[in-house]
Amino acid sequence: MKLLLATRNVGKIVEISRMLKPLGVDVIQPEEEIPVEERGKSFMENAYLKALAYFKRYGIPTLADDSGLVVPSLEGYPGIYSSRFYSLDWGGREEVETGKDQANIKKLLRLLEGNQDRRAYFKAVLCLMIEEEFYIFTEGICHGEIAESPRGSGGFGYDPIFKPLGYEKTMAELSPEEKDSLSHRGKAIKKLSQLLETCKHSIFYQKVRST
Ligand code: IMP
Repeated sequence: MKLLLATRNVGKIVEISRMLKPLGVDVIQPEEEIPVEERGKSFMENAYLKALAYFKRYGIPTLADDSGLVVPSLEGYPGIYSSRFYSLDWGGREEVETGKDQANIKKLLRLLEGNQDRRAYFKAVLCLMIEEEFYIFTEGICHGEIAESPRGSGGFGYDPIFKPLGYEKTMAELSPEEKDSLSHRGKAIKKLSQLLETCKHSIFYQKVRST
């Protein structure tokens, strides 16, 4: 079974490919980035918009991931703006010095300075599209809190400042297997595989299988 990934984000490609391989799914990376205007107001809407854009271009079963970090004490920001949080006027812009991930982290830590409520959660919504009007969604959430300073070199994005619930380590200090077992993306992929397994006799499953 082959699935096109509707992303060029290396962190996501590495994690999704790693988790889908044992399930017998080969991930195809798009040759080019398709500009998708993420005009949705939710992770779900944006996952749909990405899946649709890539499906229209390549015409094969497509898996899109829209995800981000939600911090309730910051009105839910960075949320759907996670990848470009540094550039938002909300909370003040942050200069990109070493990279966008570092600028995002710097801004978040600045906004949380002196704030006792550091609770946060990662959320991922996956959209698997096999036809323009034939698609399913799953989601995964990983609760935790924001560390005082970045630690670790694994993963990507906000991982160095996110401590999953019950852990003293940050997500970037976990092994890839540990991250997959508790992450928002890991949970969403597990649900997707369970859903496909349950629907083994459906047209949807047959169509995904036939690629
Ligand atoms: P998207 O490409 O619009 O879905 O933006 C996703 C952004 O959310 C990424 O660029 C990261 O900043 C953040 N993000 C999503 N998933 C993770 C994760 O697993 N670890 C760390 N950051 C993540």
